[in-house]
Amino acid sequence: MAEKRKNGYWKETVIVTDTGWGDSGKGKVVDYGAQFAQVVVRYSGGDNAGHTIRNDKGEFKLHLLPSGIFNPDALCVMTAGVVINPQTLIEEIEDVSKKRVQLTQKNLAISSSAHMILPWHKERDGLQEAARKGKKIGTTGRGIGPVYADFAERTGLRIGDLLSKDLKKRFDEENAFQEKLLSFLNGGKLPDNHYDATLVYKKLLEARDMIGPMVTDTLKILWQQKEKGKSILGEGAQGALLDLTLGGYPYVTSSHPGLSGFSISTGIYDVQKVIGVTKAYTTRVGSGPMPTELTDKTGEYIREKGHEFGATTGRPRRCGWFDGPAMRFGARITGVTTGALTKMDILDGLKEIKICIAYEIDGKKYKEITSAEILEKAKPVYETLPGWESDTTGVRSFEKLPANAKKYIKKLEAVTGIPYSFISVGPERDATMLTS
Ligand code: IMP
Repeated sequence: MAEKRKNGYWKETVIVTDTGWGDSGKGKVVDYGAQFAQVVVRYSGGDNAGHTIRNDKGEFKLHLLPSGIFNPDALCVMTAGVVINPQTLIEEIEDVSKKRVQLTQKNLAISSSAHMILPWHKERDGLQEAARKGKKIGTTGRGIGPVYADFAERTGLRIGDLLSKDLKKRFDEENAFQEKLLSFLNGGKLPDNHYDATLVYKKLLEARDMIGPMVTDTLKILWQQKEKGKSILGEGAQGALLDLTLGGYPYVTSSHPGLSGFSISTGIYDVQKVIGVTKAYTTRVGSGPMPTELTDKTGEYIREKGHEFGATTGRPRRCGWFDGPAMRFGARITGVTTGALTKMDILDGLKEIKICIAYEIDGKKYKEITSAEILEKAKPVYETLPGWESDTTGVRSFEKLPANAKKYIKKLEAVTGIPYSFISVGPERDATMLTS
């Protein structure tokens, strides 16, 4: 059964997303699935994401490139839903090439419609965060909100503009507009440490030379691949509870991490599986409510043992017990059909483990919620389970997990309503087991 799943599982259109606030280890699950998939699609977000992958080529932190780049036979696609900082992209391509991962137009296709993140977006992000005073979102500072705002405003520069004869004219017009906006936001003058437009343009030309040949009509490619019956793996970024429309607004990102984000940027609605990746405990980075946050020694223990520091910003992540109602809600809004539970091994040393099975809100108990904004008022109701107090990092089959670890997983399944098909006990590719 497990063997069959390994090879057969990925033969359709499968999406990997995250039921929480991101950082669940999606990169690892995608890297695992990408060994079998023929097309790997990054469909939303930008370089605010940080996907850590450890495989036979080494350890990688990818912010933009699809994690499928390690399968030499897979075609990687970046859709129009992704916002691309060209500088990050070329640095990442150069970086992986040093580790013998070569990217050409044969294995990487970039949508000409993807919007570009340029230095003015990062400056706007910083100014807007500063203006929020006590109500900061705690963004990654990568210019994500501003670039998606330009997208919605139907302005800005897109990857396809790199290939236009009018690139210089378009760039100058955009720069003039953005400088006016920046001055306005900054009280009538350009910010300190303002970018050098000549340098930005020069770098853009370098980016054009490197990625120009990969820029294409990704919808055409994806639809052709779909018609040929190729297996497609969608790689999500961030997490359900950060969804712009249904997440805990305003403490969200500006895109759609789940199935909706995949479909809107690929035109593919025929999706067989949506894998919701969830950590065996809960973390969050940035501001906003987190009912199960632990500010004590246990929280510190989980942070240290789990290396819970942002892959993009290095910020310490807020750590807490598994938040059942939040993960259940996250799974629902992202279209999850099955789950992957990661970092089980981080709980190995704990004598007792708590699970949030419900919330108390205004004196009433809720096992399910219909809004992430309500988390502001939610008090966790816990059930305490005995820990397994043994090392699971070498376990490679579900049956061999300690009895209390299996009980813990069963309880999480009952609380979230998600069957966990994959259990991970370490960062290596093979430290993933399939439940039967
Ligand atoms: P932005 O996406 O940089 O605008 O940040 C908005 C919120 O989403 C902040 O709370 C960030 O910490 C959070 N966020 C953005 N990207 C990620 C991610 O990849 N993992 C976890 N949190 C993220």
